[in-house]
Amino acid sequence: MSKPATDPATETTEDGRVVDGAFDSGDSGQSGDEVEVSLRPQALDDFIGQNLLRDNLRVFIEAARGRAEALDHVLFHGPPGLGKTTLAQIVAREAGTGFRATSGPVIAKAGDLAALLTNLQPHDVLFIDEIHRLNPAVEEILYPAMEDFQLDLIIGEGPAARSVRIDLPPFTLIGATTRSGLITNPLRERFGIPLRLAFYEVAELKEIVIRGGNIFNMDLGEDGAEEIARRSRGTPRVAARLLRRVRDFAAVDGTAHINAEVADKALTRLEVDGSGLDSMDRRYLRCIAEHYGGGPVGVEAMAAALSEQRDVIEDVIEPYLIQQGFLRRTPRGRSLGDLAFRHLGLTPPPNLNEGQLDLGTDEEEA
Ligand SMILES: Nc1ncnc2c1ncn2[C@@H]1O[C@H](COP(=O)(O)OP(=O)(O)OP(=O)(O)O)[C@@H](O)[C@H]1O
Ligand SMILES: [Mg+2]
Repeated sequence: MSKPATDPATETTEDGRVVDGAFDSGDSGQSGDEVEVSLRPQALDDFIGQNLLRDNLRVFIEAARGRAEALDHVLFHGPPGLGKTTLAQIVAREAGTGFRATSGPVIAKAGDLAALLTNLQPHDVLFIDEIHRLNPAVEEILYPAMEDFQLDLIIGEGPAARSVRIDLPPFTLIGATTRSGLITNPLRERFGIPLRLAFYEVAELKEIVIRGGNIFNMDLGEDGAEEIARRSRGTPRVAARLLRRVRDFAAVDGTAHINAEVADKALTRLEVDGSGLDSMDRRYLRCIAEHYGGGPVGVEAMAAALSEQRDVIEDVIEPYLIQQGFLRRTPRGRSLGDLAFRHLGLTPPPNLNEGQLDLGTDEEEA
């Protein structure tokens, strides 16, 4: 079980796991983490973007506080790096409660979850990352805990087995997932506050980059910040990473002031193109274009062709390509739009998308 800690500030070490790695693999480990910690907003007022979500959250926290109740359970879902973990920590801090963090795959047995729950203080936040990966036996325990703050445990085995009911302090469960489609209905229905994080606007990312530049004491021009923001894949984590790399290039080249040209040069060296697509994105698009005539092609075939995990393709690569209109998920598989061909400098086949009825996406995630 991951070490539960009461101090929210210590929880940032929870990061740097599997999915993060897909984006952060170029980072220099320890020093990168420290920087990440300092960029992470600590209060709702410092959190940029997701305006409606943030305003609603503020109301719910205040209302719960006014009634001296625990905040209702919150589910954050959306692509990696958009601020789910950050928001969970902020909720605990704004509500003035303790924060304990764990993650779905880490809770192996019902007893592990029981131990976590019985150790909570009233109104504490229990954060479960990757909540779609909970073991079903553990999930069963969670239902009465969430709904009635009660724990039903079986003690002993065979004929001597008996069930005991333990009262829990009222607490707030905050779940985070990149795949809300994989959460079972009974679990999903027990979250009173489901919140979806969307990709960020360039203007919001620009604010985030400028804030980061200030924290790093950089001489960062408006245009430089804008350039980084435009190429950050709609994702604050990517923006933070690109900012650090641009800073590295500028430092080594002896450039003090970072304008659009300096940023562009650095980003081009990182193989981040003008639309913010990285080499993996282009490999993905090129594979569908060149080997599957633009699609449709199933995700399993793509995973095999690219030697990537299906999860990485669905959680990390595809959502942004879909949002940008490069890619569509249809019931028959993935297909490229015209835009993708033009982006790759290829001519779209004349019959592209012919007879393809776009019935929307197979998950509401897209
Ligand atoms: N609104 C924001 N303003 C400024 N920085 C942000 C914002 N949202 C996220 N960040 C930055 O992006 C990083 C990633 O955010 P976070 O770890 O909360 O993402 P996540 O949604 O939990 O991702 P994952 O699904 O991979 O766990 C944070 O460390 C923080 O520096
Ligand atoms: Mg997270």
